[in-house]
Amino acid sequence: MLTTRPRGTSDIIPGQVEKWQYLEHVFRRLCREYDYAEIRLPIFEHTELFQRGVGETTDIVEKEMYTFLDRGKRSITLRPEGTAPAVRAYLENRLYAGPQPVKLYYTGPMFRYDRPQAGRYRQFHQFGVEVFGAHDPAVDAEVIAMAMDFYSRLGLQGLELHLNSVGCPGCRAVLRKKLQEFFRPHLDGMCADCRGRFERNPLRILDCKVERCREVSTGAPTTVDCLCPDCAAHFQAVQDYLAVLAIPYVVDPRLVRGLDYYTHTAFEIMAADIGAQSSIGGGGRYDGLIEACGGPPTPGIGYALGLERILLTMERQGCAFPPPEGPDVFLAVAGEPASLEAVRLLQQLRRAGLAAARDYLGRSLKAQMKYAGKLNARYVVILGGDELARRVVTLKDMAAGTQEEIPADRLVDGLCRRCRES
Ligand code: HAM
Repeated sequence: MLTTRPRGTSDIIPGQVEKWQYLEHVFRRLCREYDYAEIRLPIFEHTELFQRGVGETTDIVEKEMYTFLDRGKRSITLRPEGTAPAVRAYLENRLYAGPQPVKLYYTGPMFRYDRPQAGRYRQFHQFGVEVFGAHDPAVDAEVIAMAMDFYSRLGLQGLELHLNSVGCPGCRAVLRKKLQEFFRPHLDGMCADCRGRFERNPLRILDCKVERCREVSTGAPTTVDCLCPDCAAHFQAVQDYLAVLAIPYVVDPRLVRGLDYYTHTAFEIMAADIGAQSSIGGGGRYDGLIEACGGPPTPGIGYALGLERILLTMERQGCAFPPPEGPDVFLAVAGEPASLEAVRLLQQLRRAGLAAARDYLGRSLKAQMKYAGKLNARYVVILGGDELARRVVTLKDMAAGTQEEIPADRLVDGLCRRCRES
């Protein structure tokens, strides 16, 4: 137990963490360009937020939440997603009182008690964005474009954007009736969950993963059969904007997504290369959620991307990552007086903004050179008793394999210049 992490979690260790940092860097840059501001949200929230926000009939709320009573006997849930917390924060911090729309982004771990497999974990990480206060279909196109832009900056290829409209509550009432008429004769052969969903939320049946329920639901009425004129116009406008942006998509009338809050646009991005867990991101509009959480009627839309699945796809597709960075300079030290000088020099180098490392295990000079190579250091400075006496150091350029002696008092400036230039 002490040396094993809980199932479905992972350590992101040096060597891998650089890839995560790279994704974060690209995402933050993207958010800056699209003018989204960061919000940092709690890892846990009151359970009720997700019950009301994500929906009682969803798999997430029914089966997947990490819920516990804290010592004050309050029901707390580790966040399974970021939209409901972002809505709570928008209301609690009265962000609706400022200029609209409010465009936010967040990054961080989410928790779902699901059966772990490749691409599906119990603690996973999302990048997400949410826009509050604008119903304009151009915003729908903006968030979709932003998601696609992120993938393309990473070099991902062959992705499929699935697009649907799940309509407004009026369209949903029509669909609900049609779905109940369709499924009623088949109810006996369906799973217990779906029999429950039939009354509570028949739309969820379309999202059931059980094979016989999937078979029954082939040919079931879909959302696009029931769109009212306003919803149909909104959906058409989103498609017109996507055409202007030259973003290819497929209309997928069976796409209902796993969360109950969606209205109008729903979308998901699929990668062919990573097996069953192919959704590498998804989102949609949720024009009723803010009001349902106790706020003023306010439209909203957003998406979230799963980092583990994106990394898996990048690896499968052989996408490039920036090369790993070693220290700018490694100080190889020979002998006791040189060690004192090394401590002083290291601090000078770091204060000048260089990444500097040294040996702490009393390695021989030869072993230190080898170690510097393993660390991928760009330069090695050799500091020995003899050099110290002559007030010089030996500077070795590891890539070029050349070395030269330079005055010790010119080392810091000289290295800074070289590192800036290369
Ligand atoms: P979601 O579709 O539940 O949407 O999750 C978004 C993405 O998170 C998925 O496409 C997938 O890449 C990743 N993901 C989900 N579950 C797991 C898991 N168990 N292991 C690994 N990756 C996973 C949402 O969470 C919504 N809050 C998105 C949204 C934002 N809609 C509007 N605004």
